[in-house]
Amino acid sequence: MIKLEKVTKVYADGTKAVDEMSFEVDQGELCVFLGPSGCGKTTTMKMINRLIPITGGNIYIDGVDNTKINASELRRNIGYAIQEIGLFTHMTVGQNIETVPVLKGWSKSRRRERAEELLELVRMKPSEFIDKYPNELSGGQRQRVGVARALGTDPPILLMDEPFGAIDPINRVELQSEFLKIQQKIKKTIIFVTHDIYEAIKMGDRIALMKDGKLVQYDTPANLLYRPKDEFVEGFVGADRALKGLQLLRVKEVMTGTYATAKMGEKTEVVRERMEKEGIDWLPVVDNSGRFTGGVSISDLTGGRAKTVKDVITPSEAKSDINAVLNEALSLMLSSGLKTLPIVVEDNRLAGILTFDAIQETLHEAVKTGGTK
Ligand SMILES: Nc1ncnc2c1ncn2[C@@H]1O[C@H](COP(=O)(O)OP(=O)(O)O)[C@@H](O)[C@H]1O
Ligand SMILES: [Mg+2]
Repeated sequence: MIKLEKVTKVYADGTKAVDEMSFEVDQGELCVFLGPSGCGKTTTMKMINRLIPITGGNIYIDGVDNTKINASELRRNIGYAIQEIGLFTHMTVGQNIETVPVLKGWSKSRRRERAEELLELVRMKPSEFIDKYPNELSGGQRQRVGVARALGTDPPILLMDEPFGAIDPINRVELQSEFLKIQQKIKKTIIFVTHDIYEAIKMGDRIALMKDGKLVQYDTPANLLYRPKDEFVEGFVGADRALKGLQLLRVKEVMTGTYATAKMGEKTEVVRERMEKEGIDWLPVVDNSGRFTGGVSISDLTGGRAKTVKDVITPSEAKSDINAVLNEALSLMLSSGLKTLPIVVEDNRLAGILTFDAIQETLHEAVKTGGTK
Protein backbone atom coordinates (compact mmCIF):
# COMPACT_ATOMS: atom_id res chain seq x y z
CA MET A 1 0.00 0.00 0.00
CA ILE A 2 2.72 2.46 1.03
CA LYS A 3 6.29 1.59 0.17
CA LEU A 4 9.39 3.61 0.98
CA GLU A 5 12.55 2.81 -0.91
CA LYS A 6 15.78 4.40 0.30
CA VAL A 7 13.95 7.61 1.03
CA THR A 8 16.27 10.49 1.86
CA LYS A 9 15.65 14.11 2.76
CA VAL A 10 18.33 16.78 2.90
CA TYR A 11 16.97 20.24 3.78
CA ALA A 12 18.30 23.37 2.07
CA ASP A 13 20.56 24.13 5.04
CA GLY A 14 22.23 20.73 4.63
CA THR A 15 20.40 18.95 7.46
CA LYS A 16 20.01 15.28 6.60
CA ALA A 17 16.64 14.68 8.22
CA VAL A 18 15.92 11.28 6.66
CA ASP A 19 18.59 8.85 5.57
CA GLU A 20 17.80 5.97 3.19
CA MET A 21 14.63 4.86 4.91
CA SER A 22 13.02 1.70 3.47
CA PHE A 23 9.93 -0.15 4.63
CA GLU A 24 6.40 -1.07 3.62
CA VAL A 25 3.02 -0.53 5.23
CA ASP A 26 0.33 -3.03 4.27
CA GLN A 27 -3.25 -2.15 3.51
CA GLY A 28 -5.37 -1.70 6.62
CA GLU A 29 -2.36 -1.56 8.89
CA LEU A 30 -1.65 1.10 11.48
CA CYS A 31 2.05 1.91 11.34
CA VAL A 32 3.50 4.08 14.10
CA PHE A 33 6.51 6.31 13.50
CA LEU A 34 8.27 6.41 16.84
CA GLY A 35 11.47 8.09 17.98
CA PRO A 36 12.95 11.03 19.85
CA SER A 37 12.22 14.58 18.77
CA GLY A 38 14.08 15.51 15.60
CA CYS A 39 14.61 11.93 14.40
CA GLY A 40 12.71 12.57 11.15
CA LYS A 41 9.16 11.34 11.81
CA THR A 42 7.31 14.40 10.53
CA THR A 43 9.63 14.83 7.57
CA THR A 44 9.12 11.21 6.51
CA MET A 45 5.37 11.51 6.86
CA LYS A 46 5.16 14.73 4.87
CA MET A 47 7.10 13.22 1.98
CA ILE A 48 4.33 10.64 1.64
CA ASN A 49 1.72 13.26 0.67
CA ARG A 50 4.42 15.48 -0.82
CA LEU A 51 4.03 18.37 1.55
CA ILE A 52 7.82 18.09 1.60
CA PRO A 53 9.66 17.21 -1.63
CA ILE A 54 11.83 14.11 -1.52
CA THR A 55 15.60 14.40 -2.05
CA GLY A 56 16.39 10.79 -2.90
CA GLY A 57 14.70 7.40 -3.19
CA ASN A 58 11.06 6.63 -4.00
CA ILE A 59 7.71 6.44 -2.32
CA TYR A 60 5.04 4.25 -3.87
CA ILE A 61 1.33 4.46 -3.14
CA ASP A 62 -0.41 1.30 -4.32
CA GLY A 63 2.56 0.68 -6.57
CA VAL A 64 2.53 4.16 -8.14
CA ASP A 65 5.49 6.50 -7.59
CA ASN A 66 3.95 9.38 -5.66
CA THR A 67 5.86 12.00 -7.67
CA LYS A 68 3.83 10.79 -10.69
CA ILE A 69 0.55 11.62 -8.96
CA ASN A 70 -0.86 15.14 -9.17
CA ALA A 71 -0.07 16.76 -5.80
CA SER A 72 -3.54 18.04 -4.98
CA GLU A 73 -5.14 14.78 -6.11
CA LEU A 74 -2.67 12.94 -3.86
CA ARG A 75 -3.60 15.07 -0.85
CA ARG A 76 -7.30 14.66 -1.44
CA ASN A 77 -6.85 10.92 -1.28
CA ILE A 78 -4.73 10.95 1.82
CA GLY A 79 -6.45 12.12 4.99
CA TYR A 80 -4.31 14.29 7.20
CA ALA A 81 -4.88 14.95 10.89
CA ILE A 82 -2.33 16.88 12.83
CA GLN A 83 -2.29 18.52 16.17
CA GLU A 84 -0.92 21.96 15.24
CA ILE A 85 -3.12 22.74 12.26
CA GLY A 86 -6.30 22.20 14.21
CA LEU A 87 -9.66 23.23 12.89
CA PHE A 88 -10.66 26.34 10.96
CA THR A 89 -11.96 28.54 13.78
CA HIS A 90 -14.29 30.62 11.59
CA MET A 91 -16.05 27.51 10.29
CA THR A 92 -18.57 25.28 12.04
CA VAL A 93 -17.85 21.67 12.85
CA GLY A 94 -19.90 20.64 9.81
CA GLN A 95 -18.06 23.01 7.48
CA ASN A 96 -14.72 21.80 8.80
CA ILE A 97 -15.58 18.20 8.10
CA GLU A 98 -16.87 19.12 4.64
CA THR A 99 -13.62 20.81 3.59
CA VAL A 100 -12.37 18.05 1.31
CA PRO A 101 -15.84 16.98 0.11
CA VAL A 102 -16.26 20.61 -1.07
CA LEU A 103 -12.97 20.41 -2.96
CA LYS A 104 -14.14 17.19 -4.53
CA GLY A 105 -17.35 18.88 -5.71
CA TRP A 106 -19.79 16.82 -3.67
CA SER A 107 -23.37 18.11 -3.54
CA LYS A 108 -24.55 19.95 -0.45
CA SER A 109 -26.82 17.16 0.74
CA ARG A 110 -24.20 14.47 0.21
CA ARG A 111 -21.66 16.55 2.15
CA ARG A 112 -24.04 17.10 5.04
CA GLU A 113 -24.92 13.43 5.17
CA ARG A 114 -21.26 12.51 5.24
CA ALA A 115 -20.51 15.05 7.99
CA GLU A 116 -23.30 13.58 10.10
CA GLU A 117 -22.10 10.06 9.47
CA LEU A 118 -18.56 10.99 10.50
CA LEU A 119 -19.72 12.74 13.66
CA GLU A 120 -21.60 9.58 14.58
CA LEU A 121 -18.44 7.62 13.93
CA VAL A 122 -16.41 9.73 16.38
CA ARG A 123 -19.32 9.57 18.83
CA MET A 124 -20.48 13.15 18.71
CA LYS A 125 -24.21 13.69 18.32
CA PRO A 126 -24.61 15.42 14.94
CA SER A 127 -27.64 17.50 15.96
CA GLU A 128 -25.74 18.81 18.94
CA PHE A 129 -22.39 19.54 17.36
CA ILE A 130 -22.64 20.07 13.62
CA ASP A 131 -23.36 23.81 13.86
CA LYS A 132 -21.03 24.57 16.74
CA TYR A 133 -17.75 26.43 16.33
CA PRO A 134 -14.43 24.90 17.39
CA ASN A 135 -14.06 27.30 20.35
CA GLU A 136 -17.27 25.85 21.80
CA LEU A 137 -15.71 22.38 22.02
CA SER A 138 -13.39 20.70 24.50
CA GLY A 139 -9.89 19.71 23.42
CA GLY A 140 -10.94 16.09 23.06
CA GLN A 141 -13.96 17.00 20.96
CA ARG A 142 -11.85 19.20 18.68
CA GLN A 143 -9.47 16.30 18.22
CA ARG A 144 -12.33 14.01 17.23
CA VAL A 145 -13.62 16.53 14.74
CA GLY A 146 -10.06 16.70 13.37
CA VAL A 147 -10.15 12.95 12.81
CA ALA A 148 -13.62 13.20 11.23
CA ARG A 149 -12.36 15.93 8.89
CA ALA A 150 -9.39 13.79 7.86
CA LEU A 151 -11.83 11.03 6.94
CA GLY A 152 -13.93 13.47 4.87
CA THR A 153 -14.10 11.69 1.54
CA ASP A 154 -13.22 8.27 2.91
CA PRO A 155 -9.56 8.30 1.84
CA PRO A 156 -7.82 4.91 1.93
CA ILE A 157 -4.79 6.40 3.68
CA LEU A 158 -4.64 8.49 6.81
CA LEU A 159 -1.62 10.39 8.09
CA MET A 160 -1.76 11.44 11.73
CA ASP A 161 1.04 13.50 13.26
CA GLU A 162 0.89 13.37 17.06
CA PRO A 163 -2.90 13.63 16.80
CA PHE A 164 -3.48 13.38 20.54
CA GLY A 165 -0.38 15.32 21.52
CA ALA A 166 -2.21 18.30 23.02
CA ILE A 167 -4.71 16.25 25.04
CA ASP A 168 -4.37 15.63 28.78
CA PRO A 169 -3.31 12.08 29.73
CA ILE A 170 -6.71 10.81 30.87
CA ASN A 171 -8.65 11.95 27.83
CA ARG A 172 -5.77 10.85 25.68
CA VAL A 173 -6.06 7.22 26.78
CA GLU A 174 -9.77 7.38 26.04
CA LEU A 175 -9.27 8.94 22.60
CA GLN A 176 -6.70 6.28 21.75
CA SER A 177 -9.14 3.51 22.64
CA GLU A 178 -11.93 5.19 20.74
CA PHE A 179 -9.74 5.62 17.72
CA LEU A 180 -8.75 1.95 17.78
CA LYS A 181 -12.44 1.03 17.77
CA ILE A 182 -13.00 3.33 14.82
CA GLN A 183 -10.06 1.78 13.00
CA GLN A 184 -11.55 -1.69 13.50
CA LYS A 185 -14.52 -0.44 11.51
CA ILE A 186 -12.83 1.67 8.83
CA LYS A 187 -9.61 -0.36 8.39
CA LYS A 188 -7.60 2.47 6.82
CA THR A 189 -3.92 2.32 6.10
CA ILE A 190 -2.59 4.67 8.75
CA ILE A 191 0.71 6.34 9.55
CA PHE A 192 0.60 7.55 13.12
CA VAL A 193 3.43 9.67 14.50
CA THR A 194 4.25 9.77 18.18
CA HIS A 195 7.24 10.14 20.49
CA ASP A 196 5.36 8.31 23.25
CA ILE A 197 6.28 4.64 23.51
CA TYR A 198 3.12 3.79 25.44
CA GLU A 199 0.98 5.28 22.71
CA ALA A 200 3.03 3.48 20.05
CA ILE A 201 2.64 0.09 21.71
CA LYS A 202 -1.06 0.55 22.21
CA MET A 203 -1.86 1.83 18.74
CA GLY A 204 0.56 0.16 16.37
CA ASP A 205 0.26 -3.00 14.32
CA ARG A 206 3.84 -2.21 13.46
CA ILE A 207 6.27 0.35 14.79
CA ALA A 208 9.02 2.09 12.82
CA LEU A 209 11.51 3.16 15.46
CA MET A 210 13.74 5.92 14.10
CA LYS A 211 16.92 7.60 15.23
CA ASP A 212 18.82 10.41 13.50
CA GLY A 213 16.87 9.96 10.28
CA LYS A 214 17.50 6.23 10.15
CA LEU A 215 15.14 3.31 10.65
CA VAL A 216 16.46 1.31 13.60
CA GLN A 217 13.82 -1.39 13.96
CA TYR A 218 10.59 -2.00 12.06
CA ASP A 219 8.59 -4.53 13.96
CA THR A 220 5.50 -5.50 15.88
CA PRO A 221 5.12 -3.90 19.32
CA ALA A 222 5.78 -7.27 20.96
CA ASN A 223 9.03 -7.78 19.09
CA LEU A 224 10.15 -4.25 19.86
CA LEU A 225 9.50 -4.87 23.55
CA TYR A 226 10.74 -8.40 23.86
CA ARG A 227 13.25 -8.65 21.03
CA PRO A 228 14.97 -5.27 20.85
CA LYS A 229 17.50 -5.22 18.04
CA ASP A 230 20.18 -3.20 19.78
CA GLU A 231 21.02 -1.09 22.81
CA PHE A 232 19.27 1.98 21.47
CA VAL A 233 15.99 0.08 21.14
CA GLU A 234 16.49 -1.51 24.54
CA GLY A 235 17.06 1.89 26.08
CA PHE A 236 14.11 3.43 24.30
CA VAL A 237 11.83 0.59 25.34
CA GLY A 238 13.03 0.87 28.93
CA ALA A 239 13.67 -1.50 31.80
CA ASP A 240 9.94 -1.82 32.54
CA ARG A 241 9.22 -3.58 29.26
CA ALA A 242 7.26 -6.31 31.05
CA LEU A 243 4.88 -3.66 32.36
CA LYS A 244 4.63 -2.00 28.99
CA GLY A 245 3.56 -5.37 27.64
CA LEU A 246 0.30 -4.82 29.52
CA GLN A 247 -0.66 -2.53 26.70
CA LEU A 248 -0.26 -5.28 24.14
CA LEU A 249 -2.91 -7.44 25.63
CA ARG A 250 -6.65 -7.13 25.66
CA VAL A 251 -8.76 -8.27 28.56
CA LYS A 252 -10.39 -10.91 26.37
CA GLU A 253 -7.04 -12.62 25.81
CA VAL A 254 -6.36 -13.05 29.50
CA MET A 255 -9.74 -13.41 31.17
CA THR A 256 -11.39 -16.65 32.19
CA GLY A 257 -14.55 -17.05 30.18
CA THR A 258 -16.35 -19.75 32.11
CA TYR A 259 -16.75 -18.96 35.71
CA ALA A 260 -19.19 -19.72 38.49
CA THR A 261 -21.77 -17.04 39.19
CA ALA A 262 -24.45 -16.41 41.76
CA LYS A 263 -28.05 -15.44 40.98
CA MET A 264 -29.94 -12.80 42.89
CA GLY A 265 -32.56 -15.12 44.31
CA GLU A 266 -30.29 -18.03 45.22
CA LYS A 267 -29.92 -19.23 48.80
CA THR A 268 -26.68 -18.10 50.40
CA GLU A 269 -25.93 -21.63 51.60
CA VAL A 270 -25.98 -22.95 48.08
CA VAL A 271 -23.70 -20.16 46.93
CA ARG A 272 -21.29 -20.78 49.78
CA GLU A 273 -21.05 -24.44 48.88
CA ARG A 274 -20.34 -23.47 45.30
CA MET A 275 -17.51 -21.17 46.38
CA GLU A 276 -16.00 -23.80 48.65
CA LYS A 277 -16.15 -26.37 45.91
CA GLU A 278 -14.44 -24.02 43.45
CA GLY A 279 -11.96 -22.78 46.05
CA ILE A 280 -12.82 -19.12 45.52
CA ASP A 281 -13.89 -16.41 47.91
CA TRP A 282 -15.83 -14.11 45.60
CA LEU A 283 -18.51 -14.59 42.98
CA PRO A 284 -20.04 -12.20 40.49
CA VAL A 285 -23.81 -11.91 40.73
CA VAL A 286 -25.95 -11.83 37.61
CA ASP A 287 -29.64 -11.23 37.05
CA ASN A 288 -31.91 -13.53 35.03
CA SER A 289 -30.65 -12.12 31.73
CA GLY A 290 -27.02 -12.64 32.66
CA ARG A 291 -26.38 -8.97 33.41
CA PHE A 292 -23.72 -8.22 35.95
CA THR A 293 -25.22 -6.68 39.06
CA GLY A 294 -22.60 -6.97 41.81
CA GLY A 295 -20.58 -9.44 43.81
CA VAL A 296 -20.70 -11.59 46.94
CA SER A 297 -17.74 -12.43 49.19
CA ILE A 298 -17.58 -15.62 51.18
CA SER A 299 -17.12 -13.56 54.34
CA ASP A 300 -20.56 -12.08 53.79
CA LEU A 301 -22.10 -15.54 53.62
CA THR A 302 -20.79 -17.10 56.79
CA GLY A 303 -22.80 -17.17 59.96
CA GLY A 304 -25.31 -14.58 58.90
CA ARG A 305 -29.07 -14.72 59.00
CA ALA A 306 -29.32 -13.70 55.39
CA LYS A 307 -31.32 -16.01 53.21
CA THR A 308 -30.62 -15.06 49.61
CA VAL A 309 -27.87 -13.46 47.60
CA LYS A 310 -30.00 -10.36 47.28
CA ASP A 311 -29.53 -9.66 50.98
CA VAL A 312 -25.74 -9.78 50.92
CA ILE A 313 -24.79 -8.52 47.47
CA THR A 314 -22.35 -5.66 47.16
CA PRO A 315 -23.47 -3.64 44.18
CA SER A 316 -20.30 -2.99 42.27
CA GLU A 317 -19.45 -0.51 39.61
CA ALA A 318 -15.90 -1.78 39.13
CA LYS A 319 -15.84 -3.82 35.98
CA SER A 320 -14.01 -3.82 32.73
CA ASP A 321 -14.95 -4.16 29.11
CA ILE A 322 -13.89 -7.26 27.22
CA ASN A 323 -12.01 -5.10 24.69
CA ALA A 324 -10.19 -2.96 27.26
CA VAL A 325 -6.41 -2.93 27.22
CA LEU A 326 -4.95 -4.95 30.07
CA ASN A 327 -3.20 -2.06 31.78
CA GLU A 328 -6.49 -0.20 32.12
CA ALA A 329 -8.12 -3.23 33.73
CA LEU A 330 -5.15 -3.74 36.05
CA SER A 331 -5.25 -0.11 37.04
CA LEU A 332 -8.91 -0.52 37.93
CA MET A 333 -8.12 -3.59 40.03
CA LEU A 334 -5.49 -1.66 41.93
CA SER A 335 -7.71 1.34 42.58
CA SER A 336 -10.82 -0.66 43.50
CA GLY A 337 -8.95 -3.22 45.57
CA LEU A 338 -10.56 -6.10 43.67
CA LYS A 339 -8.47 -9.18 42.99
CA THR A 340 -11.09 -10.47 40.62
CA LEU A 341 -12.51 -8.10 38.09
CA PRO A 342 -15.83 -8.81 36.37
CA ILE A 343 -15.64 -8.46 32.60
CA VAL A 344 -18.68 -7.38 30.70
CA VAL A 345 -19.77 -7.09 27.08
CA GLU A 346 -22.57 -4.96 25.65
CA ASP A 347 -25.60 -4.47 27.79
CA ASN A 348 -23.57 -5.16 30.93
CA ARG A 349 -23.71 -8.90 30.33
CA LEU A 350 -21.05 -10.80 32.25
CA ALA A 351 -18.51 -12.38 29.92
CA GLY A 352 -15.95 -13.65 32.41
CA ILE A 353 -13.55 -12.60 35.11
CA LEU A 354 -9.99 -11.33 35.21
CA THR A 355 -7.61 -12.26 38.00
CA PHE A 356 -4.23 -10.98 39.14
CA ASP A 357 -2.76 -14.45 38.74
CA ALA A 358 -3.85 -14.65 35.14
CA ILE A 359 -2.24 -11.28 34.38
CA GLN A 360 0.99 -12.27 36.06
CA GLU A 361 1.20 -15.60 34.27
CA THR A 362 0.51 -14.06 30.89
CA LEU A 363 3.15 -11.36 31.26
CA HIS A 364 5.73 -13.77 32.54
CA GLU A 365 5.07 -16.02 29.58
CA ALA A 366 5.37 -13.09 27.17
CA VAL A 367 8.76 -12.00 28.51
CA LYS A 368 9.97 -15.60 28.44
CA THR A 369 8.86 -16.44 24.93
CA GLY A 370 9.20 -13.10 23.24
CA GLY A 371 5.50 -12.28 23.21
CA THR A 372 2.94 -12.50 20.50
CA LYS A 373 0.62 -10.15 18.74
N1 LIG B 1 12.49 23.10 7.21
C1 LIG B 1 13.56 22.59 7.78
N2 LIG B 1 14.81 23.02 7.47
C2 LIG B 1 15.91 22.49 8.04
N3 LIG B 1 15.88 21.48 8.92
C3 LIG B 1 14.67 21.00 9.27
C4 LIG B 1 13.46 21.51 8.72
N4 LIG B 1 12.43 20.82 9.26
C5 LIG B 1 12.97 19.93 10.09
N5 LIG B 1 14.31 20.02 10.11
C6 LIG B 1 15.25 19.18 10.86
O1 LIG B 1 15.12 17.85 10.39
C7 LIG B 1 15.24 16.92 11.45
C8 LIG B 1 14.01 16.06 11.50
O2 LIG B 1 12.89 16.88 11.83
P1 LIG B 1 11.43 16.32 11.99
O3 LIG B 1 11.12 15.48 10.82
O4 LIG B 1 10.53 17.45 12.27
O5 LIG B 1 11.58 15.38 13.27
P2 LIG B 1 10.45 14.78 14.26
O6 LIG B 1 9.14 14.92 13.63
O7 LIG B 1 10.90 13.37 14.45
O8 LIG B 1 10.58 15.54 15.54
C9 LIG B 1 15.51 17.75 12.69
O9 LIG B 1 16.89 17.82 12.90
C10 LIG B 1 14.95 19.10 12.34
O10 LIG B 1 15.59 20.13 13.04
MG1 LIG C 1 7.37 15.96 14.39
